[in-house]
Amino acid sequence: MKARVAVLISGAGTNMAALLYASKLSSCPYEVVLVASNNPDAEGLKIAATEGIATFAKSHIGLERAAHDAIMHEAITQAGATYVVLAGYMRILSTEFVEKWDERMLNIHPSLLPKYKGVNTHQKAIEAKDSVAGCSVHLVTAELDDGPVLGHIEVAILPNDTAETLAARVKMAEHQLYPKILADYVGRDTNPEYLVDQVRTLALTQPEADEVLSHGMRCFGIIGGKKFAYVSVDHHGDGKTALLVKISGAEEQAMLIDSDEERYYRPAYFGDGWIGIRLDLGDTDWDHIGDWIAKSWRAVAPKKLTKLMDVAGEF
Ligand code: GRF
Repeated sequence: MKARVAVLISGAGTNMAALLYASKLSSCPYEVVLVASNNPDAEGLKIAATEGIATFAKSHIGLERAAHDAIMHEAITQAGATYVVLAGYMRILSTEFVEKWDERMLNIHPSLLPKYKGVNTHQKAIEAKDSVAGCSVHLVTAELDDGPVLGHIEVAILPNDTAETLAARVKMAEHQLYPKILADYVGRDTNPEYLVDQVRTLALTQPEADEVLSHGMRCFGIIGGKKFAYVSVDHHGDGKTALLVKISGAEEQAMLIDSDEERYYRPAYFGDGWIGIRLDLGDTDWDHIGDWIAKSWRAVAPKKLTKLMDVAGEF
């Protein structure tokens, strides 16, 4: 399944177009499901509409920041997007909005971050007599242009460059950078190595947990005790990455599978006491997976350990 991306723009939308055209390659791991704007006249909206992409526009004028962000958020979730990609979206976002898309929102900025946050980046680079300018893609955090940088491309500054001529070349670099970085980033969601790492981080925070390899499967148990989590990667060539955790029995197993047949399954050879949870569907809620792992740990942990935890929890 491809990652579903909403692109937010305010103007020309050339980066949006670059992302959109790149997504037409069959090997691209994302698809653009919505192009949204705070500017109903944004040129990019027309490009997207002509390409058959759903568009949404809502002017921010006369609205509180959080209220406008909430309207955008609603449109994005209605479109089923799992990532938000800012491409020349000229709005400072409310903390609520940023938190909702934590680690799922990217931005492109026309400088080599952390240099020259904010506006007039090209002019600043020329005035500072830098020999290179460039562009960066970063994760969006509450601070402007400040999140972790996922990648950048350097662009040499010519002796007679003006802000305009430099901007034009940096734009070309932006159009190369954004689709590539976005593809790599969303690729994590189906990348077994990344998924195993995520489970490892959650499993090893359980008390007295360790990691073992059993029949080629990564598993996590209580040191010298029982296992509480397995990660199934391409088991018998099924192509799936899934977490196996303890449950109460056949009834809970049937209920879970019934609730979502794509996500939950009965793991072969494990019996009724375990459930398989797909991790590679592109919309994994890691907090939820953390809860599953903690619950499974509790189900196998010896009394003396769970009692200790209960006592600790009271303080
Ligand atoms: C780009 O320079 C981008 O780096 C910045 O805004 C500009 C958007 O341009 N964040 P476009 O609308 O994608 O052409």
